[in-house]
Amino acid sequence: MTETKDVIRLTLPAKPEFVSVARLASSGAASRMGYSFDAIEDIKVAVSEACTNAVSHGYKQMETGQIKIVMECGENALTITVIHNGESFDASQALQKLKPIDPYADLDEVNEGGLGLFLINALMDQVTISTECGVAVRMIKFLSRDGVERIANKVSTTE
Ligand SMILES: Nc1ncnc2c1ncn2[C@@H]1O[C@H](COP(=O)(O)OP(=O)(O)OP(=O)(O)O)[C@@H](O)[C@H]1O
Ligand SMILES: [Mg+2]
Repeated sequence: MTETKDVIRLTLPAKPEFVSVARLASSGAASRMGYSFDAIEDIKVAVSEACTNAVSHGYKQMETGQIKIVMECGENALTITVIHNGESFDASQALQKLKPIDPYADLDEVNEGGLGLFLINALMDQVTISTECGVAVRMIKFLSRDGVERIANKVSTTE
């Protein structure tokens, strides 16, 4: 049986100033679904990185294209797909290079950039990148209701 999902679709200009709109929308969807504060922060960071990549690499900051964001609110998961039809890339090669910043490396050895995909991968539960036509980054965060129940239990009444 297929699960019924509420779907939110956004089409934004591929401009840096619209990344915050995607971040706000994902935060709204996630908080409505009952994600914990930490999980909402994770989702916001991942969406920001995916949208920033679409703007800066897909369209090389030329501000000509559009980014599509599809948010599927399921019973147990929020799936967010960030899509652009601009320039694609070799995702499997980029994924092989994922690594955090080495805190012991000399400053002149630290490369700028290359953290976005690492963060997306670390913060979301499942990530699929498809590069057939433009780029589609599909990110899933599963919903653990523990956090919500903990918060709900904090509310008490006195007689
Ligand atoms: N949506 C995308 N469209 C086209 N190329 C992409 C996309 N996402 C990532 N890339 C490519 O993969 C590389 C790694 O992306 P990643 O986000 O990890 O680092 P970055 O964007 O270069 O730097 P940072 O995110 O740390 O500012 C990019 O430099 C770019 O070449
Ligand atoms: Mg990036």
